[in-house]
Amino acid sequence: METGKYINDLLSGYQKSLIILTANQHKIFDHLEGNPSSAEDISNVLKLSLKGAERLLNALCGLELLQKRGSLYQLPANMASYLTSSGEHSMNQWMRLSSDLFPIWNQLPDFVQNGKMVKRIMDVLGTDPERMENFTDSMHEKAIKATEMLANELPLGNARSMLDIGGGPGTYALEWAKKHPDLKATVMDIPQVLEITKKYIKKYGLEDRVATRPGDIGKDSLGEGYDLVLLANILHMYDADWAQTTLKKAIAVLKPGGRIIIHGFCADEALTGPLEDVIFSLNIGLLTEGGNAHPVAEKVRWLEENGVQEIRHFRVTAIPTGVVTGLKAS
Ligand SMILES: C[S@@+](CC[C@H](N)C(=O)[O-])C[C@H]1O[C@@H](n2cnc3c(N)ncnc32)[C@H](O)[C@@H]1O
Repeated sequence: METGKYINDLLSGYQKSLIILTANQHKIFDHLEGNPSSAEDISNVLKLSLKGAERLLNALCGLELLQKRGSLYQLPANMASYLTSSGEHSMNQWMRLSSDLFPIWNQLPDFVQNGKMVKRIMDVLGTDPERMENFTDSMHEKAIKATEMLANELPLGNARSMLDIGGGPGTYALEWAKKHPDLKATVMDIPQVLEITKKYIKKYGLEDRVATRPGDIGKDSLGEGYDLVLLANILHMYDADWAQTTLKKAIAVLKPGGRIIIHGFCADEALTGPLEDVIFSLNIGLLTEGGNAHPVAEKVRWLEENGVQEIRHFRVTAIPTGVVTGLKAS
């Protein structure tokens, strides 16, 4: 791509983000679901200025999120599925989170200046239980694709007991237990989150094989004797010391020959890619005290130091993140 155009696209990138986030904030996608409307109707019902609404609607057409037929704007079915709050693949909570992150990213110059977190992630997600549950639902949907990709790459069939550390909704434990009838799994997380996990366990009908274990990963026991231990999207929330200590603790509760899987953002050796991971390092720096996309090489070293062998690394595309895995020495 021509250099000037590339830089220009980078400079105006926030404008495209704000167009879709503003439409979501004013509930334009929900309003248009099955209800093609004129700019006048939309501005009247949603109490917007005609001038502003019309310009936003036209820009949404330019972004190919909406279509215009005569004077009517409509939301195509494939977009409705992702953009409305009730859509099958609703990204509504991700859009809400992106809106909440916007003012925090505006403080990037301060973070770069002083290296200090701007706002704690849990304060961004809010203390509203309904929102937390909605957010966990959308996390679950994203994770399902990742569970398939990991399972396609790794032989998990022989595992009989699994610990899902910081398991959230328990997606990995539930999907793999569903696939392997001999697998029993434990999802460890904080008590508030496990209340949501229990609903998922019930939904999957796996109460007899998937259990919950409330606790603080850093302070509490992880149990013992697992064939498979998973840490998905958790190590990057903490600093290298915490991550290293947690990995040591996780490997200690694994049976000899058992598999450990780390899934999450991880930078390459030069720390300059993959792009999603290096941007995530900034994002998590704004939202946590020590979080980082700890590089692959560091994770490999931590595993080796604790007797893990046959270590390999691969990427999954569903959530563009890396996997580092290996077997505890027999
Ligand atoms: C980003 S979510 C990942 C959830 C799930 N593993 C996934 O990938 O879909 C991180 C989870 O770790 C949990 N968590 C973070 N710190 C924790 C701690 N110190 N003790 C227990 N759970 C923790 C959070 O409550 C949250 O559910």
